[in-house]
Amino acid sequence: MGLHSRTDYQKGELHLEDVAKDPWSLFESWVEEAVASGISDPTAFTLSTVDEEGCPHGRIVLLRDTRNEELVFYTNYRSEKGEDLERLGKAGATFFWPHAERQVRVRGKVSKVSAEESDVYFASRPRASQLGAWSSAQSSDIGSREHLDQQFETAKNRFDGLDVPRPPHWGGFSLRPDAIEIWQGRPSRMHDRFRCQRSSEGWKVVRLQP
Ligand SMILES: Cc1cc2nc3c(=O)[nH]c(=O)nc-3n(C[C@H](O)[C@H](O)[C@H](O)COP(=O)(O)O)c2cc1C
Repeated sequence: MGLHSRTDYQKGELHLEDVAKDPWSLFESWVEEAVASGISDPTAFTLSTVDEEGCPHGRIVLLRDTRNEELVFYTNYRSEKGEDLERLGKAGATFFWPHAERQVRVRGKVSKVSAEESDVYFASRPRASQLGAWSSAQSSDIGSREHLDQQFETAKNRFDGLDVPRPPHWGGFSLRPDAIEIWQGRPSRMHDRFRCQRSSEGWKVVRLQP
């Protein structure tokens, strides 16, 4: 199957001054623009981790907060990604916003958010999602769809008439960027690309060849 679609990117341009002032604020403004644009899952990103054998894994998760210059997302701590994150304490995050012809790559250290912060977020989720967190041992095998549905019914009955508490194995991670790469598509593959490295004097920003 040959796949030959091509886009000549021309929706924007980036100058060193735009990025160097404050790369984090630029990233946040791009997230806000994606949310405002009405695209589906504007905060979805590929979370990259590395397993015990050094093998990379990527999967989509949703960005839920950007406080204190950190990316916050939520998951099952016992999932494959949860174990990778806890073991290595590092991750990568890659956003692609096709409608704006933009990509952002982040890498840095990861830690669990406080139980209080996870509780607040968990309490804001729809009840069905809260029950879902109790009903799935994420990334483990299960024999059938029926068995999974049974687990959901069990959780539903268990918490009938009660608030659903946050499962101890479910919560947030925060990713503190050491490096952010900001990419804006340009015509003829001559894209604008900047690498921002955190240093003791703030962000050091260099233009990269596309
Ligand atoms: C649009 C989208 C959003 C998702 N958001 C999350 C999320 O916020 N947290 C999460 O744990 N999984 C999320 N998932 C599911 C993950 O991609 C993945 O299948 C799951 O977390 C198990 O990953 P793991 O086995 O590598 O740990 C999302 C998937 C999609 C397609």
